Amino acid sequence: MGARKYLFLVVIILVTLIITFHRALNLTTQNLWPFSSSTNIAIVTFHGARADKSLKSKQEYASHWGYELLVGEPAYEDISSAWPAISYLHSLTHRHPHIKWFWYLSPTALIMNSTLTLESHILHNLTSPQYRDRDLIVAWDCRTLNTASFLLRNSKWSRPFLELVLARQGANTVGEVMERLYWENQLLGQRYHFVPARTVCGLAADACDDGERYLYHEGDFVLDFPFCAEKCTAGSMLEGTKRQDVDHNT
Ligand SMILES: *[C@@H]1O[C@H](CO)[C@@H](O)[C@H](O)[C@H]1NC(C)=O
Ligand SMILES: *[C@@H]1O[C@H](CO)[C@@H](O)[C@H](O)[C@H]1NC(C)=O
Repeated sequence: MGARKYLFLVVIILVTLIITFHRALNLTTQNLWPFSSSTNIAIVTFHGARADKSLKSKQEYASHWGYELLVGEPAYEDISSAWPAISYLHSLTHRHPHIKWFWYLSPTALIMNSTLTLESHILHNLTSPQYRDRDLIVAWDCRTLNTASFLLRNSKWSRPFLELVLARQGANTVGEVMERLYWENQLLGQRYHFVPARTVCGLAADACDDGERYLYHEGDFVLDFPFCAEKCTAGSMLEGTKRQDVDHNT
């Protein structure tokens, strides 16, 4: 009888200790490093009609660094449009509450430098107090905001934000709508965190007429072929990464 009671007590104490320790550990890691675990990050993309190699590079990158990879079926043909991404992200914020950050990467974009992690390359700056409330990480390109590669925090802010963007679906691109919201609404704009274009997305040669600073350079993280949506095969995309010049007729 006595032995059983003791055993019961020991079990209770152990369980309490484990729970307390686990909580304390969670709290400290949360404070120091809000994205402590890679599985809190998901790469979001679509099957591109001909962009299978691009998907393969995303799969390899995700599994190497322990990120989730969420691949949607695009609702329509133009895989360079980010509109399907906005609806998809909207549904994902609900379905994947454990994900802290979504990295949307267009099917026309290739990961070129897989030694860079999202944490070390992009998210680390957001640990400083002045940036703690930033929920959208995005870059300007020569036209507007570049939506081939951007990060969105899975926060209370993000769902209504995506809904605001979706409400303006029309003749504009997602980048243009996000830009307009930025200028129109200061409170909203405070949630944007801008990074240099090449940090998240270098553009293929001739995607931008002006501005060397938007174009992909060797060693950059990502290379996007915005005009590749219909015309380029995966082969010509990869070929283009070497030549920096894509044959539009392939
Ligand atoms: C991080 O901060 C440094 C210094 O302010 C800045 O040069 C760099 O571009 C930032 N990087 C990102 C990804 O925000
Ligand atoms: C990846 O980026 C790092 C840091 O900028 C750089 O040192 C390295 O050479 C790059 N690697 C490749 C394969 O481009």
